[in-house]
Amino acid sequence: NQADLGVLGMGTMGASLALNFADNGGFTVALGNRTTEKTYGVRDDNPELAERLVPTDSIEHFVSTLKSPRVVVLMVNAGKPVDDQMALVLPHLAPGDILIDAGNADFNDTVRREKAVKPTGVHFVGMGVSGGEVGARNGPSIMVGGDQAVWQRLKPLLEPIAAKFDGSPCVDWLGPDGAGHFVKTIHNGIEYADMQMIAEVYGILRDAVGLRPQEMADIFADWNTRDLQSYLIEISSLVLAERDPETGGALVDQIVDEAGQKGTGRWSVIEAQKLGVGATTLEAAVSARGISSRRAERAEAARIFGGVKTARAEFHADHEGLAELEAALVAAKIIAYAQGYATLTEASKEFGWNLPLGEIARIWRAGCIIRSRFLDDITRAYEAGDVVNLLLAPSFTSRIEGAQEALRRVVAKASLAGIPVPALSAALAYFDDYRRARGTTNLTQGQRDLFGAHTFHRLNREGTFHHKWPQA
Ligand code: 6PG
Repeated sequence: NQADLGVLGMGTMGASLALNFADNGGFTVALGNRTTEKTYGVRDDNPELAERLVPTDSIEHFVSTLKSPRVVVLMVNAGKPVDDQMALVLPHLAPGDILIDAGNADFNDTVRREKAVKPTGVHFVGMGVSGGEVGARNGPSIMVGGDQAVWQRLKPLLEPIAAKFDGSPCVDWLGPDGAGHFVKTIHNGIEYADMQMIAEVYGILRDAVGLRPQEMADIFADWNTRDLQSYLIEISSLVLAERDPETGGALVDQIVDEAGQKGTGRWSVIEAQKLGVGATTLEAAVSARGISSRRAERAEAARIFGGVKTARAEFHADHEGLAELEAALVAAKIIAYAQGYATLTEASKEFGWNLPLGEIARIWRAGCIIRSRFLDDITRAYEAGDVVNLLLAPSFTSRIEGAQEALRRVVAKASLAGIPVPALSAALAYFDDYRRARGTTNLTQGQRDLFGAHTFHRLNREGTFHHKWPQA
């Protein structure tokens, strides 16, 4: 019984996390996997950490190497694999042991699993981990849910392996049951939106301006020195600059334009819908991946309707033109984050989580995929007082006021040029809808009352009304 904890699932993320626990945490880590060769492989490939890695070849062996009370970190694909592994390991655990699901789970599953496990006395913890393979190995951002008392026991294990921002670890307990996984899901929805908006600007620069990938890499690198400074802008520049060893051209030009998805982006949008929050920019990003995967249909539609005509006069890559695109991206980013945060705010109320919204931006500051300078402003906005919606927080109000015109011009010009900017335009539409005091759903309410007697409220007096409308 020498291992401080065990990691079950030796895929890329699980193995990386196990190495991180051994390396940065100095912990002895039991390695478990469905196929046991992998556990030995992970140890043998990392001789410098070998004495702190304990490969195991059965679930009994895995559990028997763990110090009691045991801590087991599950890192397998979301869905059935989690339930399968839980069914395998739970019979070997005892009251007081901790079982962590560190994968990307649907928070509804986490809530269900925690309830199901509770009677056994084992503590089930849903924990979001962001940062991809490199993050998991060297320092991810970690979003912990579950029992707060259990967090006190996990803290010494997780703080040493988490990313550090200004010296403090990017890990925290965010709320009970599914809170950690929910926050990770919204992180991913925002990740999708950020990536899509960057891709849309790339589309403008490529198709309307006609720039080469290296030129765009330089532009993104420049943007990365200002307001847009972020990991995703940085890697966009790296991707654009990469050469293809096979053709000698830019690698990005050889990559098929079909984006996959594993579910988290979609979950974020589904949850936003259930909560009645319009996360439309996130939604546009998820839908864009769906459309991207219909490549043959798109080719056919391009044949029928004509594709995007390149080198349009609307856009220029001069100083002014690039500044406009940069400002548009800043504005849309603020709106996308406002939508993600509105979803978190609503979920916090709905599920009684009391999510620490400023702290969430702080633990996203390093390690995770959406890490950026911009998150500081979110933390500060929440520190400054109550925030109903980020768009209404004074620091953001002034920024969006300065940048919205650029977003408007970019969306208008893109639509005239026939260049799709679904996420940017969704952001703009949300902003315009949000800032319109007198909307148009008074007509919707009239229609609903006419065909279904759904009733309506009046502006000039209290109460619920039904009108006897003429029928069509
Ligand atoms: C992260 C990432 C990661 C996620 C994929 C998104 O925060 O490290 O969000 O957890 O699984 O990067 O996956 P898809 O793009 O395949 O949905």
